[in-house]
Order: sequence, then structure tokens, then C-alpha cells
Amino acid sequence: MIDARKLDHILISLKKDVASKTKNGFEDVALVHRALPEIDREEIDLSATFFGRRISAPVLIAGMTGGHEKAKKINENLAIAAQELNIPMGVGSQRAGIENEKLAYTYSIAREAAPDAFLIANLGAVQLSKGYGIKEARKAIDMIGANALAVHLNPLHEAIQPEGETDFKGCIRGIEKLSNIGVPIIAKETGAGIAREEAVLLEKAGVAGIDVGGLGGTSFSAVEYYRKKAGKGKLFWDWGIPTAISTVECAESTKLQVIATGGIRNGIEVAKALALGASACGIALPLLRRAVKSSREVAAELQRIIEELKTATFLVGAANVAELKNSDVVITGKMKEWLESRGIDCKKFANRRMIKWK
Ligand SMILES: Cc1cc2nc3c(=O)[nH]c(=O)nc-3n(C[C@H](O)[C@H](O)[C@H](O)COP(=O)(O)O)c2cc1C
Repeated sequence: MIDARKLDHILISLKKDVASKTKNGFEDVALVHRALPEIDREEIDLSATFFGRRISAPVLIAGMTGGHEKAKKINENLAIAAQELNIPMGVGSQRAGIENEKLAYTYSIAREAAPDAFLIANLGAVQLSKGYGIKEARKAIDMIGANALAVHLNPLHEAIQPEGETDFKGCIRGIEKLSNIGVPIIAKETGAGIAREEAVLLEKAGVAGIDVGGLGGTSFSAVEYYRKKAGKGKLFWDWGIPTAISTVECAESTKLQVIATGGIRNGIEVAKALALGASACGIALPLLRRAVKSSREVAAELQRIIEELKTATFLVGAANVAELKNSDVVITGKMKEWLESRGIDCKKFANRRMIKWK
């Protein structure tokens, strides 16, 4: 039963420590402090363009749930916050709602609670290689009046879970077939990151954006470890490409909009991700933990992160998101080693505002 399994994921994520032990890479990224910002913090404009839509801040609620009664309330609370703050929101995999129409209301509540928000539908890429196509994608989009469709790539999770589906042959062709469906397609990992080779393939297949879903936040291997006490989950707990590294790999190799998701927990990390090339950052588990309480708590958590982002933006002397994206960022340590061994020059990130100093 898909819905029982998805409920397990929620309950385990709420109760257990399912964070990866490896950090998300932003610890190796430093924004250069400006002692003379020459702007008024209160005048900073954090609004951004997200697949053509103006949003109030470059932060979104990453897709998590749907398919059972408990999920309905969670999606409702997340959506109320998305509507209030004018930020995008994704729902979880809609397979349960497609295969059993009686469950569609657990997803469509998002549109009811957020009539004006940018909503992102969600389907698994592995389903596309097993017969899902335009018809099912349309159903998912129509179910929530979606403004975009995320296709999740989760080979790690499928390989770890006992009932996983590991035949990923033909996924890219399946994604390609959806490219003219009428809403932007976002290819989305779920915690193991996307490398530049896949980013380039996805761009050629016609996707409009990539959500890197990198390592350093929620680990689905951890969730599966607790679910089945299976040894496999433990070994692969920290498998993947850290979020910060994946963000650079995808942003440097394509012209796509890149969303940095995976362990984003504060506004400084959002600022760093934007300076590395992301268009927005996604947040999942911390918002789930608040959504089981109230929409107020979800909104308060997001507001905290947005306020922190504003302070970080001020401290790098940027008046808006475009200027923040062009600020100097120094990459050190393991991330520098990784990027350089992959042929990506870190110096250019650190010297964008090159001035003559003598
Ligand atoms: C309980 C739970 C369920 C999730 N279900 C989905 C899903 O159905 N589809 C999907 O694309 N991502 C799913 N995700 C992944 C998130 O969108 C996100 O990529 C991941 O949790 C990393 O973000 P975080 O570290 O902020 O939690 C889920 C995450 C959680 C915590």
C-alpha cells in the first residue's frame, strides 16, 4: 500500500533523527562580509522570479506528502503558510491520488488553502519508465491546479526500501515526453543530489528547472533504516552529493533554474545557495514538524529564515536578490577539492567584485 508506506515516512521523520551525518556543504562556503554595506536593511527587496511568477522571497516548501487523512491536514497547514507568504509549495508524490481518486482530496486541499500560490505537482521518474505518461502527469497537475510539475529522481531510496522499484531504464525518455505538457517540469532529487552530467541530460530533455535535493538534510536511507531495521539503510545513510556542491554542478553546467534543497535550515544557507547560482531554496522536514502543529508555526519558521536571509543580504551589501547572486563567495575545504577535481574554478566566485586595491 503506497499510502501506508508514505504515512510511515512521515511518522518516522517526525519521531526519529533522520538527518544525514554528512553536512550539506555550506560549511565550506563563506560570504564576504561588507563593513560598509551602504544600503538600508529595511529597504532590501527579497522578491524573486520563480518560473515566471513573482514570489515574495526565494524560499519554497519542498514536496512531502499526500495520500492519507493525516497528510491532508499537513498539506493544508503548509498551503495556508504558502498563501500568506506568497512563496511556492510542492506536494508529495501523487501516485496514491492517481491510482485511487478517493485520495485526491489530500492533495487538492493545497489549492483550496492556497488559491494564489505557485503549486508544484509531484510524480516519480521511475513511474515514467513503467507506463506513466502525459495522461497521469495531467491528472497530477489538474488535481492541484499546479503551476509546475516536479518529477522526482530517487534511485537511492528505491534501492534501499524493500518494496523499491529499481528499473530506472527509460526515465529520461519519459521526462522528455512530458516537456510540452504546458507547465514547467522540475527534475528533483530527494536527498542524494544531482551531478552535472545528469543536469545536462535533463536540460536536453526539456526540463525547466532542477531541484538538486542534495545530501546534508533528510536522509531517506535513515528513514528506511528505522522503518525496516534493514542494514542497507545504515550503510547508505550518507550517500550522495552535498547540496552546496550539487547546486554549483547544476548551475555551472546548465542555464536552468536551480533550486537548492537538502538540509537548508537558516537564512545564511539560503544566501550562500543563491550566491552559488541557485534561484531559490527548498525546505522540507523542519516545516513538516511544524505543519503537524499549525499553519502559524510553519509561517513563523519561514519568516525566521526570510529575516535571516535579509540580514545576510544586508551584510554582503546587496540591495536585492540579483545583487546577492553576484556577491563574492569563498569556497574552501572539501567542497573546493571536489569542484576543482571536477574542473570548476572556485576563484571566479570569490572575485566577482574585483576592485583595484593599490
Ligand atoms: C516525510 C518526507 C516525505 C517526502 N516525500 C517526498 C515525495 O513524495 N516526493 C519528493 O519529490 N520528495 C519528497 N521528500 C523529499 C523532500 O522534498 C526534500 O527533498 C528532502 O526532504 C530534503 O529536504 P530537507 O533536508 O529540508 O528535509 C520527502 C521528504 C520528507 C521529509
